[in-house]
Amino acid sequence: MTKRLLALSFVLLLVLSACGGDDGAGTTTTAGPGETTTTGAAMTDQVEVFSWWTGGGEAAGLDAMIVVFGGAYPEIDFVNSAVAGGAGTNARAVLATRLQANEPPDSWQGHAGQELIGTYVAADQIEPLNFLYEEEGWLDVMPETLIPLISDGGNIYSVPVNIHRANVLWTNPGILADNDIEVPTSMDDWFAAMDALQAAGMEAPLAMGEQWTSMHLLETVLLGSMGYEAYNALWDGSGDWSSAAVTEALNDFDKALSYTNSDASALSWQDAAQLVVDGSAAFNVMGDWAEGFFREIGMEPNTDYGWAATPGTGGIFQFLSDSFVLAKNAPHRDAALAWLKIAGSREGQDAFNPVKGSIPARNDADRSLYGEYLLSAMDDWSSNDVAGSLTHGVVANDSWKSEIDTALGAFLANRDVAAFQAALVAAEAANA
Ligand code: GAL
Repeated sequence: MTKRLLALSFVLLLVLSACGGDDGAGTTTTAGPGETTTTGAAMTDQVEVFSWWTGGGEAAGLDAMIVVFGGAYPEIDFVNSAVAGGAGTNARAVLATRLQANEPPDSWQGHAGQELIGTYVAADQIEPLNFLYEEEGWLDVMPETLIPLISDGGNIYSVPVNIHRANVLWTNPGILADNDIEVPTSMDDWFAAMDALQAAGMEAPLAMGEQWTSMHLLETVLLGSMGYEAYNALWDGSGDWSSAAVTEALNDFDKALSYTNSDASALSWQDAAQLVVDGSAAFNVMGDWAEGFFREIGMEPNTDYGWAATPGTGGIFQFLSDSFVLAKNAPHRDAALAWLKIAGSREGQDAFNPVKGSIPARNDADRSLYGEYLLSAMDDWSSNDVAGSLTHGVVANDSWKSEIDTALGAFLANRDVAAFQAALVAAEAANA
């Protein structure tokens, strides 16, 4: 039996014992993403849940929460409509088409912040959930930082399942030790480390994947190069995208790209993370869903992979939060509410997050369930300065992000820093 199956069986056992055992109402089993089946009792209802968690580490996290859901609501069939593609690049397009056609899934994954408020709330596509927060007592356990990012006009619009950290530098500890390289904490140390690795024969010390992973790298370099206040100011209208500080950060980004693999555009984030544990690269900048992936493929923390805040971002937690919404006119509204209750529950979050590589949104997690990396993330989340992610929906709405993405695509091809900066200035002017 694989570790993942063992973990799932353990969670199922816990759930069944918490529910006082099998009451004969039927059992829900999860054979894999999209393969939830219910036997025994007649199926009375279903809930369709939409996400992009199909890949390594991600599907396993969702599966663990589906098991908890199945234990609590055996009469509801869980229809897993996940669409593959990291960061929702494909899923969000499919979702947009469905919403336009007035065929919403009952509940879908959306990022806390501008993605949620600027897209689904602005288009009146989701229902406020204040009543559920009151019923479930969630205002007492969800972080105060998060509530404004999922609220508009006094209404709360989603149920956060986690907090992910975006600014993580994943390392190969063996390679760093063999080359006498300390984990870099500044941009200059990082570049010096990668120069040394290249001189020692490693072609591409920094592993990168498809375009969204380069936007992810960009946001961490902007933060690391400019600092916490100047980075935040870029998004709240008080910063200056044409400043010398942005030019310097873009030059740093250009330099960081010079250490990356030439086949990046053909690689998923998992492929890129794999290059680090395989020893073909020493570094990868990726959110902590990479930890879920490393664990799923049997890698050991601090031996096969190490971690640190990305260079220049020590003491800063650049975050994002996955949350689930209730569709307006949801085809199965009651079942969707049942799903949201599990997504917001301690049991659901403590099943999902240790596998997904995130910390629970709730502040009452059972710490004994979390590994060394996630415990360090919990401590950092409660003590660091907090900045938001661009790539994962916190700081910019979809239209601003999409203009930045277009400018980034051009930059990856022409590497013209001045043209890139001019396009970023124009993107802010058009959207802020
Ligand atoms: C993010 C999402 C994470 C993870 C990642 C890679 O946008 O918030 O949960 O799924 O994409 O797919």
